[in-house]
Amino acid sequence: MQFTPTMTGINSPDPLQHAFKVKSAPHAGRSNSRPLTLDSQQWQQWWQQPSQATQRALYIHLPFCRKRCSFCNFFENGTNPEKVSRYVDTLVEQLRIAADTPLGNSRAFDTVYVGGGTPTDMQADEIFRLGEAIQRFKLVDDVEITLEGRLNGFDDDKWQAANQSGFNRFSFGVQSFDTDVRIAAGRFDDKTVLLNRLAELSQHPSASVVIDLIFGLPGQTMDVWQQDLQAVIDTGVHGVDLYQLIGLSGSRMDHAKGKGKVIAPANSQYQADSQTRANMYAIGANHFEAHNWQRLSSCHWRRDARERSIYNTLAKSGIEILPFGAGAGGSIHGHGCMNGRDLKQWHQAHNSTPDTVQTVPAQVPQMIMPPNPSAALDAVIKRGLDTGLLDTRLLPAKLAKHLTPLFEQWQHNGLTDFSSPLLSLTLAGRFWNVNLQTGLFEFLAANPLKQDLAA
Ligand SMILES: C[S@@+](CC[C@H](N)C(=O)[O-])C[C@H]1O[C@@H](n2cnc3c(N)ncnc32)[C@H](O)[C@@H]1O
Ligand code: SF4
Repeated sequence: MQFTPTMTGINSPDPLQHAFKVKSAPHAGRSNSRPLTLDSQQWQQWWQQPSQATQRALYIHLPFCRKRCSFCNFFENGTNPEKVSRYVDTLVEQLRIAADTPLGNSRAFDTVYVGGGTPTDMQADEIFRLGEAIQRFKLVDDVEITLEGRLNGFDDDKWQAANQSGFNRFSFGVQSFDTDVRIAAGRFDDKTVLLNRLAELSQHPSASVVIDLIFGLPGQTMDVWQQDLQAVIDTGVHGVDLYQLIGLSGSRMDHAKGKGKVIAPANSQYQADSQTRANMYAIGANHFEAHNWQRLSSCHWRRDARERSIYNTLAKSGIEILPFGAGAGGSIHGHGCMNGRDLKQWHQAHNSTPDTVQTVPAQVPQMIMPPNPSAALDAVIKRGLDTGLLDTRLLPAKLAKHLTPLFEQWQHNGLTDFSSPLLSLTLAGRFWNVNLQTGLFEFLAANPLKQDLAA
């Protein structure tokens, strides 16, 4: 058996800080197949074919932001009101067409996610029209419909338009409440504005309001982090995601680093090192668990059952996701799909398809991957490691046996407690869970299991 430290981590007295050198990637996965070319006839056939999925989602992408935050590389296009309006018109039209196709209407959707970019930058009437377009699809009774974005500019008109058109979950990027940290990161609004607005929105009788925090931002000392964590509780929001800062290539921060600079607050050049960030994660996890919040994944906690996080949970389980918009990703009939980000090409694809013959959504430039034969297994593994508990009885017996030496190495390195059949991740394992997922797929690539998995 071949092992490497990137699969197993290393043995150290403090696995939380030292099991791996660095988080391997934002998400794990394996892909060794080549993209497919789909001709327009096959595209038409896809939409004429009813869904075979047991659970499914819609993902709708809004690739606009008003400002390029220092840490982020999701920025695609500046928010120009005319451009957004034209984009939303096209999206709404495409959703209308899709909802009437056999693929679109053959079974109800469990969850819908409008992500970006910054979808909350849409005007109130655009949010409303998009919400209405979503309602044309068959949706399960307790469907979750999320609108992503930020609090700045998300005024009462937008909030009401969203509520009235069916959105029932709001995911706002806060990143840090600290005003100095925020200014350096290129965020709008100071701490007081955020605290007040979140407290106000969280009073809604049923909608779930969740926020994202990042740990490791320049100027964000441990003291600032503890205040950030306390602010989450004080605002009354229903859920929180804690993300370790990843050095994303193409971000402003990354460019500055290339020149030996740090984009930091005027009064502090502090930036937590990797070990401190591990401690920040531990303090965050313990903070929410001490307040009786429930952990739904390694980075997401909820105050109570109002927050369900259905999209994020199901997306990791490899379900069908119909993608709409430039830069949207999803999965159709088992094929991974990633729409091209180029807005001009995306519009051109729609303009070159005459309305009169449009019975299926326009085929936009996109990358299509062949079905992954082990998708169902990968989903069990990813979901188990992400939630912190992998029940190995859900794996074929031969695969579970084949992976046992790897699980034992993880146990030896303080990342898991393996008491067969349950593999539960320690706090350190949860912090490094993306490395564990990547490491497991690396292990299988280096030590393939050739026997018949069905046995
Ligand atoms: C696609 S962004 C959308 C956020 C929203 N537009 C906003 O302004 O807050 C989703 C989330 O990705 C996370 N994110 C972005 N860049 C990151 C980085 N470099 N490291 C870790 N998380 C990051 C942030 O927490 C952010 O809220
Ligand atoms: S954090 Fe949000 S607003 Fe800032 S660049 Fe990323 S996607 Fe755009």
